[in-house]
Formats: sequence, C-alpha cells, structure tokens
Amino acid sequence: MSCASFAKINVLSPQWIGNNSFSSRRGGSSPLTATRRVSLPIRASSYSDELVLTAKTIASPGRGILAIDESNATCGKRLASIGLDNTEVNRQAYRQLLLTTPGLGEYISGSILFEETLYQSTTDGKKFVDLLREANIIPGIKVDKGLVPLPGSNNESWCQGLDGLASRSAEYYKQGARFAKWRTVVSIPSGPSALAVKEAAWGLARYAAISQDNGLVPIVEPEILLDGDHPIERTLEVAEKVWSEVFFYLAQNNVLFEGILLKPSMVTPGAEHKEKASPETIAKHTLTVLRRRVPPAVPGIMFLSGGQSEVEATLNLNAMNQSPNPWHVSFSYARALQNSVLKTWQGRPENVEAAQKSLLIRAKANSLAQLGRYSAEGENEEARKGMFVKGYTY
Ligand code: 13P
Repeated sequence: MSCASFAKINVLSPQWIGNNSFSSRRGGSSPLTATRRVSLPIRASSYSDELVLTAKTIASPGRGILAIDESNATCGKRLASIGLDNTEVNRQAYRQLLLTTPGLGEYISGSILFEETLYQSTTDGKKFVDLLREANIIPGIKVDKGLVPLPGSNNESWCQGLDGLASRSAEYYKQGARFAKWRTVVSIPSGPSALAVKEAAWGLARYAAISQDNGLVPIVEPEILLDGDHPIERTLEVAEKVWSEVFFYLAQNNVLFEGILLKPSMVTPGAEHKEKASPETIAKHTLTVLRRRVPPAVPGIMFLSGGQSEVEATLNLNAMNQSPNPWHVSFSYARALQNSVLKTWQGRPENVEAAQKSLLIRAKANSLAQLGRYSAEGENEEARKGMFVKGYTY
C-alpha cells in the first residue's frame, strides 16, 4: 500500500480498521462505532522528510527544471530537424551538450531524463547523474509509458505505466533519481469527456502515491493541450475541473502534498482561436485556476511550455510572478529551453560552446521570469517563433 502522508484521517466508519496496524493500536477494548469520530494516523512514507526537502530544493528561488525526457522517438524528431540520425550516439552527444553547460546549476534545480539518459555516461565515462549532482541539479526520471487510445471515450487517450511502477521507481532511486514525471493529456476539442478526466486524475494520483512510497517526488502533469479554437474562458473551465479531480484523487490516495510538484499548462486560448491573449491575461486566468484549486501546501508549480515560443513562455511566467504567490511559480520547459540550442548546434562539434551559451541565455531568462524581473528586450527572432504542433506527442 502506498501511503505517504503526515495527515491524520478522521474515520467515521469501522471498515477503516481490521486490515492493518491501526486496529491493534486501538487495543481492542473500545470498539469503534459509526457514531464515534476517531483520528487515525496514516503511515508516513519512510521518505517523507526527504520528499519535502527534494521538492523544496527544486522549487528554490530563481531556479526551475530543464526537461530533456523526450522518448527516443521524440528525440529522433528533434535530431531530424537538424539533419541528424536518431542513434544512441547522437542522443548522447545532444544530452551531453545540454548537461555539461557550465554554470547551468545557477538557474536549473532539476532535470527530467529519459530512462536511457539516466543510465548513460558522457563520452569520457562520467555518469550523467553524477555530473548533475556535482552541478547542484537534481536528476529526475520520466516514468510514464506514454499515451494510448481510451476505449469508450471521444477519441481521447489515457496514460500507461502503472504496472511494475513500484519496482521501476525503486531502481530509478538507486540509480540516483529523486523525482519523477508522469504526463497525461486532456483534449478540449474532444470534450473532454468525464471518463477521460477521471482516468487522467486517477492515474496521476496512483502514480504519485507509488512514487512517494519509493522516494521520488512526483511531478503531477495533466497537460491540457493547446489544440482547439476555444476562448481562454473555456480553458479556464476545463482546467478547474481537471485540477479539482486531480486533487480529489491525490487526497484519496494519501499523497503528501508537501512532497509533490505540479506541472500544469498555462491557461491560454486554444492555439487556433482568433485572438491571442497577452501575458497579463494568461497570468490572470492561470493564477485564478491555481488559487481556486491548488492548496498552498504544494511547494512548486513548474509550468510546461506546450508549444509556445521561447519568449512567450518566459513572458507568461514573468507575468505570473509580478506579485507573491502561495507556491514557487516556475518552469519545467523542454521545447522552450531547447529550441535555440538545437538550431545553434546543428550537430557540429565546433558549435557546442555557442549552443551551450544559448541554453544559458534561455535558462537565465526563465530564472529572471521566476523572480518577476524578465524583459524581452534584445530577444532574437528564433526565440519568438511558436512551436505549436497539432496533436503533439511527447
Ligand atoms: P514542453 O515544455 O515542450 O511542453 O514539454 C513538456 C514536458 O512534459 C517535458 O517534460
């Protein structure tokens, strides 16, 4: 059973006792009745203190997450965009370029890796996880197994990966990972159906409980896709529904809120909506949903970029940090940190240094946005280009 919480539960029903040590703690002398309110502690994960510390460290001022957990297939698409083959050697070279960037730990507190990278080393034989630790960056791991069609829904999908997750997570912990990521998606043009939302929320909650039981801080990521021509108000409505279900099931699974991180999409109009929204409007709608649905016990909100341009993602984050929030509001970007890097690198060794500089520029820009001090002055055209892809898979 995965129970990672300091919380106490109030039990009204005797069915809560009998299958674990709670019953013996009662001593058997005064049987519980449905009319008597008894407070029983939920077993705290042996990792509770560590989970809280890891989450707090990732959510530290001026820092965010570099997401490089593209599956091999998706990484292949990135490499193809600069004319490289999708080989293990090329994926290693690219990840090595990113992770050996000097000074990265000043702006980046955690990096989400794909399984291959977690077990990989640099060409000099240094494990990527050791490299990260020395740079003061916590290694994380994508644990979901991707999306498949959800039967009975409106052409929606659900996320696989719960089978065997506990043993996989324990192995990832041994290898040095301290946080995990599970990305599921919700599509607005497809409904979303009540079934798809419930399935997404339940899957995230089971994953979160299993991760905490094995020492990994779960990043909870129900991505509400940008696809569609709906207005921002519709995204707000769907986001509220999704987050309320996610927190309902997280609580039901006794997940320790102090030991999770969220990875939401920003509340924007659909990518095909006739009008674009300003960073201020996006910030206002996004923070409205979060304040309504996310308890302040959660240490950090680490946004995904979802196909926004590098500059858009940074401007929107900056707008959200113009006044204090109950949680650390930061970034966990993949595309919005990597686009300029790839374009600069082009797979050439002589471009590695320049590509690392462009990663540092993006990381610093988002660090400033986390502190509410970013300005887009001087940003180049490439960084302003949108990266939205209809029906994007990760
Ligand atoms: P993007 O920032 O490219 O949307 O990536 C999201 C993600 O889940 C990466 O871990």
